[in-house]
Amino acid sequence: MFNIIIKENYAQVSSEAFRIMRETIRKENPVLGLATGSSPIGLYKKMIADHNTNGTSYKNVTTFNLDEYIGLPKNHDQSYWTFMHENLFDNINVKEENIHIPEGDVEDEEAECQKYEELLNQYEIDLQILGIGTDGHIGFNEPGTPFDSVTHIAELEEQTRTDNARFFDDDIEAVPTHAITMGLVSIMRAKKIIVIATGENKADAVYGMIKGEKSVDCPASILQDHPDVTVILDTKAASKVEA
Ligand code: GLP
Repeated sequence: MFNIIIKENYAQVSSEAFRIMRETIRKENPVLGLATGSSPIGLYKKMIADHNTNGTSYKNVTTFNLDEYIGLPKNHDQSYWTFMHENLFDNINVKEENIHIPEGDVEDEEAECQKYEELLNQYEIDLQILGIGTDGHIGFNEPGTPFDSVTHIAELEEQTRTDNARFFDDDIEAVPTHAITMGLVSIMRAKKIIVIATGENKADAVYGMIKGEKSVDCPASILQDHPDVTVILDTKAASKVEA
């Protein structure tokens, strides 16, 4: 079930996401599912500002990230480990031992997937933050990913690598070809989900997620079966669902 919220601009979209986040972090031992990409950055900024201004504590918070590129060492400037530390973790008081991100620079990636899946299964995510790819991917679950997938190695679509080349000096060759991603099953297990999408280039994917046929062709359409998804959009990303 989707609760759709449409806002004028990205600042308002981020405030709305933060409003829901704040309810979750007030719980006793919150477990957050976190995403990278540009969509959640405004939310993370609000979490940091609130931590600095109001002293909101993250010492009892546990986090799980959706995905990580294969082949990038943790300290690479485009690894998701670096992204999360720079954009959130280094600026709040979450404990390093409570942070979970798949490791993409390991000898045995299959073993890493299994390890991550086993760990995930010991927890229940209270709030999962999601962005959406222009091809409808969530995490790095690309079109064609079975709905019963667990943590796995994903081959990135050309479209996704093109979209993400902006973070690699516009050099698509520099964008990794594979990633480790949480599967669709783990995302669906979250108690509550927020999807953040802004900009015209997300309008088709947003339409596919909400109004399209439920199909592996649009992985985000699996969310049609989740009982508690809030989709927060700007008017451009919402343009096709509103029509
Ligand atoms: C990336 C990430 C996703 C993210 C999506 C959209 O490749 N793996 O988790 O939601 O693509 O990114 P953005 O928010 O930058 O548009």
